Amino acid sequence: MSAQDRIRSLRLSMRFIAPLVVTLAVLGYALLPVVDRLTLRWWVNDLDTRSQLVANTLEDQLAQLVQQGATAKINTLFNRALQDQRLYALAFCDEKGKLRYETATYPQSLRCQPLSGTGADSPSVVHLPQGPLHVVAHPIYQGSDQIGSLVLVHDMSFVERRSADTRRYLIGLFVVLGVIISLVTVFIAHLSWRGWIAGARSLLRGEGILQRFGQRESSEDVHPLASDLRALLRDLDMSRRIPEDGATWSPEMLRGVLRDKLLGDEILVVSNREPFIHVHRGEAIAVQRPASGLVTALEPVMRACSGTWIAHGSGDADHDTVDAKDRVRVPPDKPSYTLRRVWLTEEEERGYYEGFANEGLWPLCHIAHVRPVFRSRDWEEYVSVNRRFAEAVRAEARTEDPVVLAQDYHLALLPRLIRERLPKATIITFWHIPWPNSESFGICPWREALLDGLLGSTILGFHTRFHCQNFVETVDRYLEARIERESSTISYGGRLTRVEHYPISIQWPPEWVDTQLPVPLCRAKVLRVEKLADDVLLGVGVDRCDYTKGILERLSAIERMLELHSELIGRFVFVQIAAPSRSSLEEYQNFEGRLRSLAARINARFGREGWEPIRLKVEHHPSHIVNEYYRAADMCVVTSLHDGMNLVAKEFIASRDDERGVLVLSQFTGAARELHDALLVNPYHSEQCAHAIYRALTMPADEQRLRMRSMRRLVQEFNVYRWAGAMLLDAARLRQRQRVSERIKEHGRTTDAVKA
Ligand code: F6P
Repeated sequence: MSAQDRIRSLRLSMRFIAPLVVTLAVLGYALLPVVDRLTLRWWVNDLDTRSQLVANTLEDQLAQLVQQGATAKINTLFNRALQDQRLYALAFCDEKGKLRYETATYPQSLRCQPLSGTGADSPSVVHLPQGPLHVVAHPIYQGSDQIGSLVLVHDMSFVERRSADTRRYLIGLFVVLGVIISLVTVFIAHLSWRGWIAGARSLLRGEGILQRFGQRESSEDVHPLASDLRALLRDLDMSRRIPEDGATWSPEMLRGVLRDKLLGDEILVVSNREPFIHVHRGEAIAVQRPASGLVTALEPVMRACSGTWIAHGSGDADHDTVDAKDRVRVPPDKPSYTLRRVWLTEEEERGYYEGFANEGLWPLCHIAHVRPVFRSRDWEEYVSVNRRFAEAVRAEARTEDPVVLAQDYHLALLPRLIRERLPKATIITFWHIPWPNSESFGICPWREALLDGLLGSTILGFHTRFHCQNFVETVDRYLEARIERESSTISYGGRLTRVEHYPISIQWPPEWVDTQLPVPLCRAKVLRVEKLADDVLLGVGVDRCDYTKGILERLSAIERMLELHSELIGRFVFVQIAAPSRSSLEEYQNFEGRLRSLAARINARFGREGWEPIRLKVEHHPSHIVNEYYRAADMCVVTSLHDGMNLVAKEFIASRDDERGVLVLSQFTGAARELHDALLVNPYHSEQCAHAIYRALTMPADEQRLRMRSMRRLVQEFNVYRWAGAMLLDAARLRQRQRVSERIKEHGRTTDAVKA
């Protein structure tokens, strides 16, 4: 326990002790007079009885002596009686109330009247200068005639002494009680504080509430708070991973995580798509960056982390650029990590990539109303290619426990296959596309095998919490697994998988920040290339040519907008960059055909001499050129029908350092959950999209600036280094825990062996 914790625990104890001390003091103050009165009454009763006893003893002898007038004997009788410690004085008053005999101590002021006391405490108590006295008169009879009264006076000063003693004892008792209760309180508060702190800390570390090293969590009392705390922590999840000074995550920080938290452990990334594709251009070999959100996000992370990226070598010059072990150092201009290529036959590519991944899983997970197609032979290829990648991981791993980052729906079986080959590996799987509800997923004939494969992961990441929930529900429905919803973990086949959301992002500062042209020059360049007038209102869309991206819906909305706002005919141009993708698939070919004919129809309807509203460019554009289009545009439109995140939205924002331009964004993208200052639309609602596009084109500069500034802050803060850092920090924590648990088990085995 740290000194700070100790001070906090003390402060917590003081909160209990202070009211306790006050309560005890008030109680003591109120109780003392009551106790005083009570003891006085006991003593008076006691003295009444004693007086009665003494009087009974003296009565007969005194009556005789008074009859005889034997003064000397009466004095002797009185003085003998006075030997009783407490009896202070005696007197005899005759029947006329005259004082006839008295001891020397008898207070003269008492005389024979009044014979009953005047004290307020009791009728028999009088307060004289000598102190409090107990006075009673006892009638003396001769036969049946009363001849006078015997007055007995007891000294009561001892009662005061006793009362003072009692008061002292009572105060002492309260003090001792207070001290004991305080000590017990401090002790319990201290223990509880430690328990709460330990519980809260374990929650903060993301440990399971039920199991820690196979034991029950100690801080049971944290349980009721746990779910609230966990929900809160999830929302603050990314915040807790912010470096302490609140600075933006950078490649250096990510390297720091690797160095300090993962102790330089080996990093392997596995994906289908490779970050650099080598292609023949005549005699020369060119390098292409694929249009892929996965590559956009992971490439800067790999530059920061080094390590090895294992991916399918898909370029026609890929073979010519690798070494004997199929490796090539990349990026070509500044090599900082290794790309290990895996070769696939045409048949494998057809079954695994085109078939199972893109005709089956892709439409299955994107609710975009294209029927998934599942074929057994595609599945067989999928299984065998996943094995190929697992073999490549084993071959590339230099240690028995590397950190493997497995990517996307092409490699759902990979985590389990790696687990079988490298049981100690930390496998972080990231699913880049949405995860549908359990019913939709259930139509896949190999659903159990896919779930089993993914549950080989240590951590399984999705973009949004909603997709995590869908996945957990799917497991709940189709597998015999124990689900711990609070800690978001699934226990399956004796192993735990943590399911967590990690919203992906892009690098910050943006890639082209140092080399790009200023915004006015970018705009001038784009307008020159597109042969457009200076005052044109320019919109852009940048996507892979894919039916999930809602490009048809986008063009229909533009058509509707031009219908509603004919003043924009001739003034507004929309450039749609559509990178060719999966073009060997019929669905994609059909889609491209439909896209081309829709663009042509709209252009035919609204086009004028030298002007067409839609510029459709189905071709690959290098990312620095795409960046120029972003910077030149008045707005960017993203209308995906369903999208895990959509990084185009974030790239557009990152490109606009002039804080201008408006983003129209589909509400069905993961990005919409973060970019609240975009104009959010339902791409299926043509009218609504048309209004949003018009609003974007006519938005005042101040409003654009406010919205863009706030979105830029968000993208800067939640950049891709933070995304990777969050996953790696979580992995580091789990690895640490696993190592400790192994050491504990090892220690247990050694102890057992020694005992045996
Ligand atoms: O969205 C999933 C994803 O794998 C992304 O990473 C990427 O944007 C896209 O699909 C790439 O598709 P492909 O690798 O088939 O070109």
